Amino acid sequence: MSHKITLTQFLIEQQRGLPDASGTFTLLLNNIVTACKKISHLVNRGELIGVLGSAESENIQGEIQKKLDIITNDIMVNELNWTGHLAGMASEEIDDPIKIPDQYPKGKYLLLFDPLDGSSNIDVNLAVGTIFSILRCREGIHPDVQDFLQKGAEQVCAGFVLYGPSTMMVLTTGHGVNAFTLDQDIGEFILTHCNMQIPETTSEFAINMSNQRFWEAPVQRYIEDCVRGNDGVSDKNYNMRWIASLVADVYRILTRGGVFLYPLDTRNPSKPAKLRLMYEANPMGFIIEQAGGLCSTGRERILNIKPDSIHQRVPVILGSKQEVERIMQYHQQG
Ligand code: F6P
Ligand code: MN
Repeated sequence: MSHKITLTQFLIEQQRGLPDASGTFTLLLNNIVTACKKISHLVNRGELIGVLGSAESENIQGEIQKKLDIITNDIMVNELNWTGHLAGMASEEIDDPIKIPDQYPKGKYLLLFDPLDGSSNIDVNLAVGTIFSILRCREGIHPDVQDFLQKGAEQVCAGFVLYGPSTMMVLTTGHGVNAFTLDQDIGEFILTHCNMQIPETTSEFAINMSNQRFWEAPVQRYIEDCVRGNDGVSDKNYNMRWIASLVADVYRILTRGGVFLYPLDTRNPSKPAKLRLMYEANPMGFIIEQAGGLCSTGRERILNIKPDSIHQRVPVILGSKQEVERIMQYHQQG
């Protein structure tokens, strides 16, 4: 019988390669894994345990929360606030950074997360996920918002768990991207996809077409050229996919290439873009770049943005390298 590498073995072997590593980071990731296994179980049980539907409350983004947005946020907080590895946390669902309770020791990392990405899909039984990003923090301090406002390029680790037909964890610590599939029988994530690489070229795009009239000119022109295919200036015909769960769209791009756009739009002047820099764009940007792709606003590299607020939104264009470069050229042309 072939030996299967568990996520725990993978992390410990990676840690052995770093002589200065104390093991704290490996323990922190194990706590994140436990939280995500709990979330996977709840999402899978769905209506059997009455967790679907709206909570009828609004989050900081002005979005109506699902019951599972709140439950999964609480799971993340309660699985991670006691560990001693974190100095603080920030969640897409909570207005201010989450403090570590006084009775627990503080650690050297900051954790940012979107506890249930794509939650509008939960009631229709489509894939959702948890996205997380880990930053360093000066030890022994009570971090304030400023301590979280680091560029994406500073991330120590980024990952997401996709609750789809299989539950999968996709992870990078800056040495490539690996994916692990949850073996429900033994309760362990098993390494199934080593060193994922995004194909450089693609003929598949993902965008919410219903916003078309609100986009900027460069995005209008790019999508028009995709849709016209080889009847227009493109040398190929394009296919389109839109799952409306960033985790699922990004996982597709990691496996077969493609480009994903959530561009600037003029629908609501107070919300010029939809995705959140700290909880969505930065972790996905780190993963996509580590798999050989690009992640940009159309004008600049997402990971180079110096955040000015913790719930900041950014336009996101990510995926196959050559296609993102092509979209950036459309932006340069104005
Ligand atoms: O978290 C935001 C999100 O749900 C992403 O997962 C997804 O890519 C996007 O919003 C879907 O947006 P829309 O509902 O506009 O299609
Ligand atoms: Mn989200």
